[in-house]
Amino acid sequence: MDKMRITGGTPLCGKIIIGGSKNAALPLMCASLLTDNSVVLANVPHLADITTMANLLSQHGVDVSLEGQDLRDGHIGRVLSLNAGNISNTIAPYDLVRKMRASILVLGPLLARVGEAEVSLPGGCAIGTRPVDLHIQGLEKLGAKVFVQNGYIRATANKGLTGAHIVFPKISVGATENLLLAAVLAEGKTVLENVAKEPEIGDLVNCLISMGAKIEGKGTDTLTINGVKKLMGTRHTIMPDRIEAGTYAMAAAITCGSIELIGANQEDMSSTLDNLIMAGVSVKKKNENITIEVSEGRLKSINIGTEPYPGFPTDLQAQFISLMTGAQGKSIISETIFENRFMHVPELQRMGANIDLVGGSAVVTGVSYLTGAPVMASDLRASASLVLAGLAAKGETLISRIYHLDRGYERLEEKLANVGADIERVKDET
Ligand code: EPZ
Repeated sequence: MDKMRITGGTPLCGKIIIGGSKNAALPLMCASLLTDNSVVLANVPHLADITTMANLLSQHGVDVSLEGQDLRDGHIGRVLSLNAGNISNTIAPYDLVRKMRASILVLGPLLARVGEAEVSLPGGCAIGTRPVDLHIQGLEKLGAKVFVQNGYIRATANKGLTGAHIVFPKISVGATENLLLAAVLAEGKTVLENVAKEPEIGDLVNCLISMGAKIEGKGTDTLTINGVKKLMGTRHTIMPDRIEAGTYAMAAAITCGSIELIGANQEDMSSTLDNLIMAGVSVKKKNENITIEVSEGRLKSINIGTEPYPGFPTDLQAQFISLMTGAQGKSIISETIFENRFMHVPELQRMGANIDLVGGSAVVTGVSYLTGAPVMASDLRASASLVLAGLAAKGETLISRIYHLDRGYERLEEKLANVGADIERVKDET
């Protein structure tokens, strides 16, 4: 398995182009199941999870082809064309679903389009048990018959789905997306209350409306969908990845550098940028670009708690902890979304970070410097936090299991090397 070798201490300076959002692309790819016309997605990031989703959809009979590249701000985003004219299989097998939990997002659109689906339970992952009860309960309210047995969700809707009023007992990005993808073809009106408001859901709403769906309430707590009989194809450009942008913003801050993030969407990142400013980071916004800068001196420690959007994103919690390991004073970082999302902490402690875990919070006491060490990635965003720590640490850091990184960061070492990082991917010949 490949490793990442980083020699820290260089302030990163220059420009980084932000790619398309992984967490927008995945549900958008599933939207192709809703129509027999082609859905063309531009600015698709080149990531392992996207490939996994393409393989999953292909085995359902979706014709997935790379339509070439589109040049935006010098960034080559891929253009994917997806055509579900012939859905030949409605089973999403365990060996694919276990690789990527977002595979569960084929359940709603398959039910809506062909009236049946058999999807493996995704199972948990490093950050938590990740149940899908809210997805199942919502689909049952739309009239689906759902049985869970032998590790599979078997769902049918022989007479089609019927609109309903669904109030989510807790906010769930995936459940909101699955129910949205089902309701657009349901008979009648569906009201989804207490929905997630992440920008990726707004991107999905925009795409579905461009396909002919009737959806109101984008960006609010309640989405109202009037089902239609058929949806058309579309061409949709995927929004920029706010988590990738936030990660590189923190790379600039932790190395006392200056990085211009090209193509980042400031509104999507408002909570992240506000907290960076409170920690003493300079944030300059110009058109679609943001320049993150830290002159010499240490950052201020601040307390944050992760929350559903528009609060501080849980997907940047690990990276923010890395940033606070060198700040002046003590900061308390609370994780309220997932039950086990501090797996990066023991690895950061190996690098000299002073962190205590107290219940659902990490209490970080700033130290004057971290030291490089061999560390192990445990999940996608934890691995990003180890990269950030390695960029700041004195000496060499060797990160193992970096396949986690490849799920969500396109050409990370290339983008960081282009702004001065001493980083290379080491092929593990053993
Ligand atoms: C999405 O996961 C993202 N993944 C995650 O990003 C992100 O961390 C998460 O939303 C929260 O923002 C994608 O978009 C592909 P949830 P999702 O349903 O939809 C509980 C990354 O790093 N819950 O909003 O799975 C759940 O256990 C990934 O890119 C139920 O209890 O998250 C969690 O505690 C990691 N029952 C909370 O809700 C359910 O049926 C929020 O989960 C569903 C969820």
